Amino acid sequence: MTVAYASGKVILFGEHAVVYGQPAIAVPVNQVQAQATVEKGPAGRGITITAEDLQQSYSLDQVPANDALRTIVVGTLEHIGVGTKRDLTITVSSTIPIARGLGSGAAVSTAIVRALGQHFGSFVPPQVVSNLVYETEKIHHGTPSGIDNTVIAFEKPVYFVRDRKMETFSVESPFLLSIADSGIASPTRIAVSHVRRAWEREREKYEELFDEIGTIAEMGRQAIERGETETVGRLMNENHRLLQLMGVSSPELEGLVEAARQGGALGAKLSGAGRGGNIIALVTQETRSRVDMMLRVAGAQDVIVTEVS
Ligand code: PMV
Repeated sequence: MTVAYASGKVILFGEHAVVYGQPAIAVPVNQVQAQATVEKGPAGRGITITAEDLQQSYSLDQVPANDALRTIVVGTLEHIGVGTKRDLTITVSSTIPIARGLGSGAAVSTAIVRALGQHFGSFVPPQVVSNLVYETEKIHHGTPSGIDNTVIAFEKPVYFVRDRKMETFSVESPFLLSIADSGIASPTRIAVSHVRRAWEREREKYEELFDEIGTIAEMGRQAIERGETETVGRLMNENHRLLQLMGVSSPELEGLVEAARQGGALGAKLSGAGRGGNIIALVTQETRSRVDMMLRVAGAQDVIVTEVS
């Protein structure tokens, strides 16, 4: 049996604007993971996929061609060059909450590509993993920018611009992010289509917001490369304000962002599609427990801390 994993991720700067060609920054979150196992057999049954968390098990040819798990399995087997006429059992599970901006869909697909690659003794380079996973992101999200599959496949902080080769960058002073789950599921597809409709109605306003967010992502990268952590926090606050103006925040997210700031976070913002999902807060060893407490009092369902390095 082969086992492989993939981490979750959060977007530090630039969500939504990235769909419109602006730069964004995302970082992996190793504290949550998707897992995929691949086993041979049972004989004569073809390929079976079991999603443990969803208590679903099905044969590959029972589902339509645009099923996300089927798409990643077929795409990977074709890439490896071993074909789909095989008896395999693929089992997936994940500790990444679904529809909270942590990249659960992309992580499950990435774990499958890695597990199949290992099973057949074939190294699948990160850019190929990312491209294969992007096909499933299209099924989940409609018009994804590609940032989730990129950061998860490369497992490094990335500076991402749609349709360009991704860039990594150095983190001069590692810093801590507190990630608080609002407990509200927010499918990316819905938030993205809301922004699209708003942009169609008020192009000038939205393009200005996207431009400003792009500038913040650019400045955020520079601040991280220079180890200017306080500037990173200030830019997170500024990015959040622009996301508010874009209409993707919510009272629950506002409560969490405010609580994190009151607890002493250097900056806080919603992360991902918005409306629900997570907020992220920039904390230090000194402020992390107070921020954690404030976030929980404000209704966070879960709080995890990850280091960006
Ligand atoms: O998957 P999420 O919730 O992190 O959202 C993705 C970020 C968006 O910019 C809103 C959409 C995209 O495709 O980049």
